[in-house]
Amino acid sequence: MVDIHGEITSEKMAAGHYLDGKASLVVGTHTHVPTNDARILSGGTAYVTDAGMCGDYDSVIGMDKTNSINKFFKKDAKKHFPSKGKSSICGVIVDVSKETGLATKIKNFISGGVLQPRN
Ligand SMILES: [Fe+2]
Repeated sequence: MVDIHGEITSEKMAAGHYLDGKASLVVGTHTHVPTNDARILSGGTAYVTDAGMCGDYDSVIGMDKTNSINKFFKKDAKKHFPSKGKSSICGVIVDVSKETGLATKIKNFISGGVLQPRN
């Protein structure tokens, strides 16, 4: 499993294709926002651009939204601190072949908090 911890979606996709067939899963992290592109690449590697964060989505990437807005407008603001609302758990579940080490299935999951699961 390879975690591509990065901001840029194109870099994560390029890494996914570069590692296709060499890893069971290439999963992006860091942007905190789950993407809807989980799939198995042509070489058998499961891939998703970003798994999303585990935390409160009624926030600015998990941080207190009022304080974050104040920081953007250069108003009086504290150092970023976590939002304390209900949390969502986001990620992917991957089935992997014992014979090949490659993926046979990938599924996003979202549970709890303000995000609603897709389909
Ligand atoms: Fe990060």
